[in-house]
Amino acid sequence: MKPVKVGLLGLGTVGGGTFNVLRRNAEEIERRAGRGIEITYAAAREYDSDTVPGIQNIRVSDDAFAVVDDPDIDIVVELIGGYEPARELVLRAIANGKHVVTANKALIATHGNEIFAAAQKKGVMVAFEAAVAGGMPIIKAVREGLAANRIDWIAGIINGTGNFILTEMRDKGRDFADVLAEAQALGYAEADPTFDVEGIDAAHKLCILGSLAFGIPLQFDKVYTEGISKITREDVTFAEQLGYRIKHLGVTRRTPAGVELRVHPTLIPEKRLIANVDGVMNAVLVQADAVGPTLYYGAGAGAEPTASAVVADLVDVTRTLTADPENRVPHLAFQPDALSDLPI
Ligand code: HSE
Repeated sequence: MKPVKVGLLGLGTVGGGTFNVLRRNAEEIERRAGRGIEITYAAAREYDSDTVPGIQNIRVSDDAFAVVDDPDIDIVVELIGGYEPARELVLRAIANGKHVVTANKALIATHGNEIFAAAQKKGVMVAFEAAVAGGMPIIKAVREGLAANRIDWIAGIINGTGNFILTEMRDKGRDFADVLAEAQALGYAEADPTFDVEGIDAAHKLCILGSLAFGIPLQFDKVYTEGISKITREDVTFAEQLGYRIKHLGVTRRTPAGVELRVHPTLIPEKRLIANVDGVMNAVLVQADAVGPTLYYGAGAGAEPTASAVVADLVDVTRTLTADPENRVPHLAFQPDALSDLPI
């Protein structure tokens, strides 16, 4: 069977990681997907070709719309990030009948309802595992692994940059600004790092998790959002002296009044598992009725951890493409028809 052709938008940290992982593990990926997956066209305004060996063998344009409009492309991978032009590109890809894989939580949280409705109408898939908790497969866990359950609540550390900052402040007494600069250099932080430190990135991710867990529309404006920018070294030290750790948590749960969605710094007793999740790692605890509690842990940011989730979605989309076309939308895409009206 002919390989599936992928157009890659963005050759930054995650784009480069995706290109490299797909090349390095091509054989395993082909075996798992049932056919090869090849990036044949990429879009980037600028990139460092040393970090993506082999990029010279494919077409690279500085016009992302040229990739989205290319009739040869089956799947568009959007790794540009941000609201626009990502939204316009994704909607155009869908209108062109292409499946979409994205790591863009800002896009899904704020424009997901529109994007999924367009995808549903067109009969194409939109997959977004990398949008929440980087490489940790929490979307697949909530949607597939826990599909039998009524979910009661989800709570976790879902911003790697923030957790890295809090850990370094505690363990090494470093300054907030100094650690943030390192997180940026390591490719963990958002293009606008205020998204990380003011809780906006975590709120995007929590909004997506709440929507999947409780079948409610994506409503980013309903998330109570507080970041870590006001936490000082003294706060971290005092917490430690009292037997606690400060962690930035996202929490969503059912309440009699509706679904609660909140992100904020939290004091957690130091013996709890989640208090010991350090550095860029993320951890999410899900409480569900049949299975009880399950805990997920993994790298929440970084080139190859995030690429791992992007490529997993590419494998999923490719498998589904190759299977019965009638069944492809329910498997991956969010289904607007199935939304309940639980109040938030
Ligand atoms: N800036 C994000 C984080 C990247 O630090 O968690 C992964 O979503």
